[in-house]
Amino acid sequence: MWSSRWMFVLAAAGSAVGLGNIWRFPYITGENGGGAFVLIYLVCIALVGIPIMMAEVMIGREGRQSPVNTMRALTQQHHRHRGWVLIGWAGLLAGFLILSFYAVIGGWAFKYILSLADGGFTGATASQATGTFEAFLASPWEMLFWHTLFMVVVVSVIGRGVVKGLETAIRWIMPLLFVLLAVLLGYGVTSGAFGQGLAFMFRFDWDALTDRALFEALGHAFFTLSIGMGAIMAYGAYVPSSVSITNTVITIAVLDTVVALVAGLAIFPIVFANGLEPGQGPGLLFVTVPLAFGQLPLGALFGAVFFILVSLAAITSAISLTEPALAYLVEEYNAKRSRVAVTLGTGCWLLGIGTVLSFNEWAEFHVVGSMTVFDFVDYVSQNLMLPLGGLFIALFAAFALPKSVLGNQLGLTGPVGRKLWLVLAGVTAPLGVLVVFLVTIIGLDNVKAWFAG
Ligand code: PHE
Repeated sequence: MWSSRWMFVLAAAGSAVGLGNIWRFPYITGENGGGAFVLIYLVCIALVGIPIMMAEVMIGREGRQSPVNTMRALTQQHHRHRGWVLIGWAGLLAGFLILSFYAVIGGWAFKYILSLADGGFTGATASQATGTFEAFLASPWEMLFWHTLFMVVVVSVIGRGVVKGLETAIRWIMPLLFVLLAVLLGYGVTSGAFGQGLAFMFRFDWDALTDRALFEALGHAFFTLSIGMGAIMAYGAYVPSSVSITNTVITIAVLDTVVALVAGLAIFPIVFANGLEPGQGPGLLFVTVPLAFGQLPLGALFGAVFFILVSLAAITSAISLTEPALAYLVEEYNAKRSRVAVTLGTGCWLLGIGTVLSFNEWAEFHVVGSMTVFDFVDYVSQNLMLPLGGLFIALFAAFALPKSVLGNQLGLTGPVGRKLWLVLAGVTAPLGVLVVFLVTIIGLDNVKAWFAG
């Protein structure tokens, strides 16, 4: 059990805030043209993400076991179809897939601690910073080394048990991370291109909206909030009954969104001030941030600290990615946590090699279309599995659980609150997912043309 409401907020925020906010959000915003993407992402967080996150915490706290066993227990207890348990299984798989590439990018952050600390970026130009990153990507052995190290750290933390290690770690990491992001933001504001960065992120251009942006914004909303695969459900199992789910979830979602927006507002001015390409892809963070710290006094020190914090934020998220599977295996087989952690970690590590090679040796190997192994794993796990998982979680919470559970868990005893919940979890959230999937299948241009008559 978490020791307080605040501890759960920190742990869930530790899960939510990670590479998704600092690495992924800026780079996919860049790839998808900025403003329109950001707006859709915000709408997805508010209308789809928050209700689904509430549903996850509620289900987790009601079942008080790992997601698979929680779903089993709740379906049995309330005589529901056993098919719902698939939510739990799909979540384990999604967590495994996501961790496989997450650990590779976490390794990049590790590597950049050293790269900054040794002063390699002091006074560097944009093309030097880009060159350094490209050289790193071109070396599979080096990437494999850092990937392995990241996985070893994660496995050794989860092997020891979540609550103790996580609580102490998060108490320090989160506040410090905010401080350094604020420093970076300060640099962005004074870099001379803040207005351009701001306009890029918030100028909404309906014509710039593409199906891909729509689809990616939805998937990213799930990814960044850690929902749709049971991580938050697993953490919800440790939440004391007295905690208000609604307030807590809103706090976490706001915190997560603020971190992402601040990261974007810090990074895009650097992009424009240095004539870099906003849509350059996964390297965006690793080119812009060293560049900025390279210009600042004590930049090597602060830059290294920044990547330490990014690494720690990645670790706390990675831990939560394993929790559904870990908790299940421990419950089911009464196995030792440490042994399960090693087995899981090894499997993920092996799969992660595919992502490592996607940036060099296998860059021309395409699983489908133009997708590398990394693109494919990323796409299947977060663009397909998380939204579908979330869709069913919302439906389960809205329609399969009896009223009494809603009353106990959300404190919804009156008809108005209950109706509101039904609208959000039973209608808005699932519909949001379905509409985005449908529009993507039909093609946004066709939809726009249809609306235009
Ligand atoms: N939310 C984490 C991030 O933004 C990633 C994550 C996804 C963690 C799914 C757990 C579950 O980095």
